[in-house]
Amino acid sequence: MQHERQTAAPGQAPGAAAGEGDVRLWRGLSGKLLVLTAAFVMIAEVLIFVPSVANFRNVWLQSHLDTAEAASIVFLDTADPMLSEMAQRQLLRATGSLAVVIREGPTSRMMASDNMPGPVDATIDLTRMDPVGAIASALSMIVSPQMHTYRVFGRMKSRDGEIELVQTDANIRAALLIYSRNVLLLSLAISLITATLVFLALYVMIVRPIRRISGNMTAFSREPDNSALILTPSRRADEIGVAERRLAAFEQDLGQTLRQRRHLADLGLAVSKINHDLRNILASAQLFTDRISRLPDPTVQRVAPKLIRAINRAIDYTHSVLAYGRAVEAPPERRRLALSALVEDVHDLLGEEAETHLLWVNEVPVEMEIEADPEQLLRVLLNLARNSAQAFARRPAGRDGAPADDNRVTVSATRLGAKVQLRVGDNGPGMSEAAREGLFRAFGGSTRPGGTGLGLAIAAELVRAHGGRIALESTSPQGTVFLIELPQPAD
Ligand SMILES: Nc1ncnc2c1ncn2[C@@H]1O[C@H](COP(=O)(O)OP(=O)(O)OP(=O)(O)O)[C@@H](O)[C@H]1O
Ligand SMILES: [Mg+2]
Repeated sequence: MQHERQTAAPGQAPGAAAGEGDVRLWRGLSGKLLVLTAAFVMIAEVLIFVPSVANFRNVWLQSHLDTAEAASIVFLDTADPMLSEMAQRQLLRATGSLAVVIREGPTSRMMASDNMPGPVDATIDLTRMDPVGAIASALSMIVSPQMHTYRVFGRMKSRDGEIELVQTDANIRAALLIYSRNVLLLSLAISLITATLVFLALYVMIVRPIRRISGNMTAFSREPDNSALILTPSRRADEIGVAERRLAAFEQDLGQTLRQRRHLADLGLAVSKINHDLRNILASAQLFTDRISRLPDPTVQRVAPKLIRAINRAIDYTHSVLAYGRAVEAPPERRRLALSALVEDVHDLLGEEAETHLLWVNEVPVEMEIEADPEQLLRVLLNLARNSAQAFARRPAGRDGAPADDNRVTVSATRLGAKVQLRVGDNGPGMSEAAREGLFRAFGGSTRPGGTGLGLAIAAELVRAHGGRIALESTSPQGTVFLIELPQPAD
């Protein structure tokens, strides 16, 4: 598929381009799956081998008891208590034993015996089921290099009695070793075949599609505006299909957003250029107005100050638009700060620029400390307080019920678990529906003559950079309250 194509970014070596999306087999999912499957199958085989080797031991011993029984049975009813030496030797060779004994009731009859190599080391009772003992004895026979002699007995099948053999473990050990070797070889073959099958199935079903997705992500991240690189999802109904479709939709959205952003950036650049020239033109207009204002004509004297104010506002406006276009806020540098003192700094700064008398109520507990970037938080609070002050200035004294000397701005703070809530409120005239609509959008919410509509947008951006949120909590003709929530580290 064409989207798997990997293109090196300009200035990047072609080898480096392959680096991210192209994982080597043994480091990738496929290699890991192959090794893991083989290992798991081997573990399963070992788990099967342990009981099966005990079973093999039991069957081997039982078959030797059966052979001895079949060979001895013909002599059991003869009057001669002892077999000829020749017959004994044949019986011992056929059963691989040193002695064969048959017990019926209280009588026990030695059918054949050889020279015993010392005392018997162990007794194996095949009349009782003991799986754990059988496993332990089979494994110890395989690993122990020394030769031992053991007695094994079981019930006779053709008569009522027990048959007993004395044997060295050389024969059974050889048989167990051959059995183990065969099981090992078979396990290896099974685990390789299974691992290969599992690997192939997973490779086709998972690894290859994931490689296609990751290859596409690498290629797309290098050229996100190239819509030819958007993944074409397959029609799979499983999780991979869902991931493919989500990725395709995401790439589509991202490409669109990027194109939109570029258009906006171009537009912003054009606005900045126009703004820049406009500022120069306004500066000339300001100069001319200054000169005109010196004319003694009474009409000019009346109109000129208004004209100068209007031009000054327009120049301020161009300044703030340019500043906003240029400003990219630095990430906040959080540190512990005394909030009450910071609120007092806001008051001092506001006092210098206030157009009207303010009653400043600082309700923040003196000892309260929070974590934030002091400079940015000061700007946020100053913007909110300034808005309140400007709202009071718009309200003519003595109207709306509140006297001008009761213009109050209140700042309070409470700690709520892992966050702190700050409230900046006033008893001003409140805000109109129009002002509320685009409140935190740049240029969106200003209803103030000469206002740019940036103050709250900047405040919101700074609060968001702290991981917090800002909202208009209430507004009415009795006043307005803004709420700021900032996350705080646990104490
Ligand atoms: N406390 C308040 N009381 C009444 N109206 C308010 C209050 N705070 C904000 N506003 C309204 O919200 C609008 C948007 O405020 P914002 O600070 O974003 O812009 P601005 O003050 O108009 O301009 P700028 O702050 O950029 O100089 C204001 O124009 C004002 O109408
Ligand atoms: Mg403002």
